[in-house]
Amino acid sequence: MSSADEAKRKAAAKAAELVTSGMRLGLGTGSTAKHFVDFIGEKVKSGMDLLCVPTSEQTRQQALSLGIKLTTLDETPELDLTIDGADEFDPSLRLIKGGGGALLREKIVAAASKRMIVIADRSKQVSVLGQFPLPIEVIPFGLEATKRRIQKVISAVGMRGSPKLRLNAKGETFITDEGHYILDCPSGSIAYPDALANGLQNIPGVVEHGLFIGLAKAIIVADPNGVDIIGELG
Ligand code: 5RP
Repeated sequence: MSSADEAKRKAAAKAAELVTSGMRLGLGTGSTAKHFVDFIGEKVKSGMDLLCVPTSEQTRQQALSLGIKLTTLDETPELDLTIDGADEFDPSLRLIKGGGGALLREKIVAAASKRMIVIADRSKQVSVLGQFPLPIEVIPFGLEATKRRIQKVISAVGMRGSPKLRLNAKGETFITDEGHYILDCPSGSIAYPDALANGLQNIPGVVEHGLFIGLAKAIIVADPNGVDIIGELG
């Protein structure tokens, strides 16, 4: 295991300590969340009663393979706790998410949870968001027109760079679990995340963007020296 992966596992183990019997849990997506789902599988195997909502088909498959009981937000519209990874977080607990392409379901699940707690290795900590290209989920219809409007909004908040259509490993257009496309917006730095979020929300054709603002209550961040908590776990 690489040292980054060890840190991800350490953060996930710390988050697993927050899980108690009877909880309704949101399960994140990505390599960090995967460790957390493994810990949840162990808890279920040892008899803990949990009901979980996965944030992607990938996480659903993993959870099913571990015998974790799943539900939906239709059956269980409010969750106690969601644990998920992030591509970046800043000192105000604002996040960039969507590197794994699951940002839409991730945001819906986080918003349905009393608490969202992020798990991450130290490389995700930044003082200003934007080194990671911001993913924006869009409707396939009208792609070029939507892209132009996104370009106007990102330029208006001082970001350089242009949205790029995400491709999969085969070089084909990446399709999200909800059948949409993703535009990745490289910038270097996002000086005004709130203004950017507002601007993007108002563009027809944008389904959701990867800025998570006001959702995370705490970040559990790990490195070879240990685990830090930023924010409030309780
Ligand atoms: C998926 C996500 C992930 O949480 C994010 O990409 C972090 O992934 P990893 O834990 O593999 O670094 O937002 O849409």
